[in-house]
Amino acid sequence: MDLIIRRAAIQGSEGLHDIGIRGDRIDVLTPHLGERAPVELDAAGSLVTPSLVETHIHLDAVLTVGQPRHNRTGSLFEGIEIWGERIKTLTHEDVKQRATTALKWMLAHGVTHVRTHVDVCDPNLTALGALLEVREDVRDAITIQIVAFPQQGIYSFPDGEQLMIRALEMGADVVGGIPHYEWTREYGERDVRTVLRLAAEYDRPADLHCDETDDDQSRFLELVAAETVRLGLQGRVTASHTTAMHSYNNAYAYRLIRWIRKAGVHIITNPLDNSVLQGRFDNYPIRRGFTRVKELLANGINVCIGHDSIMDPWYPLGVGDPLQGCFVMVHYGQMSGRDELEMMLDLVTSRAAACFGADDYGLGAGKRADLVVFDAPTAVDAVRTMAARRWVISRGRVVAETQPARSTVRWNGRDEAVRFVL
Ligand code: FE2
Repeated sequence: MDLIIRRAAIQGSEGLHDIGIRGDRIDVLTPHLGERAPVELDAAGSLVTPSLVETHIHLDAVLTVGQPRHNRTGSLFEGIEIWGERIKTLTHEDVKQRATTALKWMLAHGVTHVRTHVDVCDPNLTALGALLEVREDVRDAITIQIVAFPQQGIYSFPDGEQLMIRALEMGADVVGGIPHYEWTREYGERDVRTVLRLAAEYDRPADLHCDETDDDQSRFLELVAAETVRLGLQGRVTASHTTAMHSYNNAYAYRLIRWIRKAGVHIITNPLDNSVLQGRFDNYPIRRGFTRVKELLANGINVCIGHDSIMDPWYPLGVGDPLQGCFVMVHYGQMSGRDELEMMLDLVTSRAAACFGADDYGLGAGKRADLVVFDAPTAVDAVRTMAARRWVISRGRVVAETQPARSTVRWNGRDEAVRFVL
């Protein structure tokens, strides 16, 4: 063995396990492994899971908060205005440097797979060129998928369709779209049809920003599902945000959810951004503007959680930790039931990996050794305490390490350690 993790708690398994890693693969999971390895990590009863998968981030916009000015209202529309100013100063090095910093933050939090959107409504495709280089630079530790994302619309921006094709020819991995943002409903329908036609022609997955609005008349997801079935793309298509589903009437939502299941469309919800951006046109009561996560999961649809933004004009917070999305999801989606809490981590691990199409992912012999050791005994504790990622392993190598904070209280004249777990 090259690396052994000892005394690991594993979701769904009784007792503790040793995990033996040879090269970049998990070789064996067993209650006690007799042999030794040059690197041995003692999990000491803490949770070990497959690494985290970030399915929705905009690396071209990360870490631009306050540039050239802060978003005073916090609204989507002021964010778009500010981004319109910032984008004028976008350079190759600027994008590379910010994206790389954000990726380091994510890696420290256990993320080894990242799907990033990149705005291709730019005749120079500056950000795409930069992120293609970053994808290669980090390949040993992080697998990146780049989505060709037409931020201003495929048909509402000059030569939008040609820019999408150029982005795919240059090496973008995934076809993006934004039907609800196109100037007209007709353009939006063309957007969906083009995205899925390109996905079929170029044999790439598709991931559309879809119905990210509180407008209950925004209904492009039904066309995404229908075109997915017509073109035989089941399992290869993702709809991100789908916040309008919150506002649909129940009869329509019921019909739509059956359609999504039939089409095998993955849904990505982005609790951090959408909790602050949606409902901005409402007087009280203010809608939450979230897709119907509980109902989608109950109907056998794959749902995962994305971060969306880290410190950009739309969302000024974030440290690149998918667990923050899980924590907000519990609250905003009212998913505090015991079973819901226990599966929340799956929305950034196994379910996210299914959306990503990650090969060899999981905790089993023969799978690639992409693992996280949490400083917490269970998945619920990990989300509750936003537990430090003690070690992160990618392709069988330790790629990040965190010393957890340790608290002490002075209690009856003595120092006493406090650990926040039962
Ligand atoms: Fe997004």
